[in-house]
Amino acid sequence: MTQETYLTGITTTGTPHIGNYVGAIRPAVASSKDETRKNFYFLADYHSLAKTEEPDRIHRSGLEVAATWLACGLDTGNAFFYRQSDIPEILELTWILNGVTAKGLMNRAHSYKAQVQANEERGSSDPDKGIVMALYNYPILMAADILMFKSTRVPVGRDQKQHMEMTRDIAQRFNHRYGDILVIPEAEINENTATLSGLDGRKMSKSYDNTIPLFVDEKRLRKLIMKIKTNSLEPGEPKATEGSTLYEIYRAFATDDEVQEIEKRYADGIAWGEMKQLLFEYLNDHIKPMREEYERLLADPAIVEKELRRGAERAREISVPYIAEIRHAIGIRKLG
Ligand code: TRP
Repeated sequence: MTQETYLTGITTTGTPHIGNYVGAIRPAVASSKDETRKNFYFLADYHSLAKTEEPDRIHRSGLEVAATWLACGLDTGNAFFYRQSDIPEILELTWILNGVTAKGLMNRAHSYKAQVQANEERGSSDPDKGIVMALYNYPILMAADILMFKSTRVPVGRDQKQHMEMTRDIAQRFNHRYGDILVIPEAEINENTATLSGLDGRKMSKSYDNTIPLFVDEKRLRKLIMKIKTNSLEPGEPKATEGSTLYEIYRAFATDDEVQEIEKRYADGIAWGEMKQLLFEYLNDHIKPMREEYERLLADPAIVEKELRRGAERAREISVPYIAEIRHAIGIRKLG
């Protein structure tokens, strides 16, 4: 059997929350230890130009995201962990792929179309108002991320499905024109990725402003958990676990036995206040060692920088010779 190559890109625009941890970080950390496959994890920092104009936010988020992944135990000895901007070959490949990407394909990108639609709804005379090329070309940069390391499998959420189709389309056109050089990747769309509800009971997401950041200090963590929405059932009244955000979060962290025990307590009418305290203590115990490591890293960013540099060095052992091969294929060659 051929070895699979997994690749995951992480945008650096926000602060990771417990929903990110359960849905993406924890499974990726587990996978990073799997020696039967090749694993690539990288900070998609150039992608952030499509989403924000704030240098400090991009910088800060890069540190927070990298420190989070390291503190959560990413195996950087086995997996490759690097920053997109440390691999110049990705940008070279992006331009090369521009040469085989149909403009019409990019016109159809959901993220671009959503902005055009917003302009139309606002009654703007220019449908492209305020849209930068970094947004328009976003899928090409993403294709370069993926194709640069011959990824065979890319685990993504539903929202990235179209980008994956575009990547395949671009790679196929390239191969059709220049020979069998790029590897056509498969999207691995996980329909049942765990999603968590947030403070107000809606899906935990920074766009709803209802998140519990993974590494808030103990006091804030307790405060946030106390804010989680419950119904008005009194202590002693049996409670349903279904639809209970407290239960859902507990279940995402606890063992099967512990979950069964809590289900009994719900049936016996545990008070919401008590359940909140219990969840706080459980979560805090679980997160504490990782939080301590996270704080150590934030206090000494040079450690994180060193990890990323080392990751980039290893990754470039692959990207440097491969881009030479690709350049040769398209006719960008030595003259003599
Ligand atoms: N576009 C992805 C997102 O918004 C991030 C990303 C950038 C990515 N490059 C990638 C994901 C390559 C997978 C593979 O989540």
